[in-house]
Amino acid sequence: MTQGMKERVFSGVQPSGNLTIGNYIGALRQWVAEQDAYECFFCVVDLHSLTVPQDPAQLRAKTREVAALYIASGIDPEKATIFVQSHVSAHSELAWILSCMTPLGWLYRMTQFKDKASKQQQESVGAGLLNYPTLMASDILLYQTHGVPVGDDQKQHLEYTRDLAQRFNHLYGETFTLPDIILPKTGARIMGLDNPNAKMSKSEVAEGHAVYLLDKPDVVKKKFMRAVTDSGREINFTEAPEKAGVNNLLTIYQAVTGQSQQDIEMYFEGKGYGDLKKTVGEAVTELLKPLQARYHELADEGGYLDEVLARGAEKACEVASTTLSQVRERIGLVGVHRN
Ligand code: TRP
Repeated sequence: MTQGMKERVFSGVQPSGNLTIGNYIGALRQWVAEQDAYECFFCVVDLHSLTVPQDPAQLRAKTREVAALYIASGIDPEKATIFVQSHVSAHSELAWILSCMTPLGWLYRMTQFKDKASKQQQESVGAGLLNYPTLMASDILLYQTHGVPVGDDQKQHLEYTRDLAQRFNHLYGETFTLPDIILPKTGARIMGLDNPNAKMSKSEVAEGHAVYLLDKPDVVKKKFMRAVTDSGREINFTEAPEKAGVNNLLTIYQAVTGQSQQDIEMYFEGKGYGDLKKTVGEAVTELLKPLQARYHELADEGGYLDEVLARGAEKACEVASTTLSQVRERIGLVGVHRN
């Protein structure tokens, strides 16, 4: 099958905070698995990061870091298109057009907006935060995307994207492919080590909350040794909220080793929480070793990364501008005509 006949997949990560093992297990690793079966576009969504205040130098550095981590995680630039969102101006342009077709009510009811807005002073909540889903819809719709691999916290944004696409198609004629969400196969939800009842987040600042992909081995091990557990001693997979810490450690171990729950429970039978933490910490350290080695190679010879991003932008632009031209035409924007 040639590239052009494959269905498309699009996903992205914001270059804010440090990518965590949760991002790797729940997203990057899934993407790697998809790059042969689909024509993939993996984007560093820098414009989305602007929805909350960013330090310019930090944003610049993190944008390159995230792109390098895509490659270090196993995404092959010869197979997938890796690019930076702001390099393709069609994203902003379509976002404006779609925002004009979005009822405010659809945006106000987004749980992510409500969460993020409630964490800021009301006067300082930017309009971009409200419009975040419109930009995300533009990312996805510009590529006539079939599948969007994201965590279930993005489900509502995907539903919004489909609603918006349907509305546009209905008003102006069949224009956009309706995308489906692709949920992680393992269904593994990686929780914070300091609070196993909250999802591990790259924007949480509390030390000991997350294990970052670029943490040094001794830091990784220390974070696991300090992980919150409980006062019991059973090491089993469980839904019990008071055992969420142990369950999280086991879930991480399973995601990393690929062993069955039964084998893992058997292995830890009769062992203590100290052993559990040590074993999981070591397994994660081993997982990260090759990834970090590749990352540092890329960071040292920055020219390759620049080249990948330039090629990615070119390829993405080609596809995105085709969709955007159709949209412009359908809604009645006049094109440039030179004699
Ligand atoms: N909102 C996504 C997240 O926080 C990031 C994102 C932006 C995205 N645009 C996207 C994901 C398009 C998938 C497709 O995880």
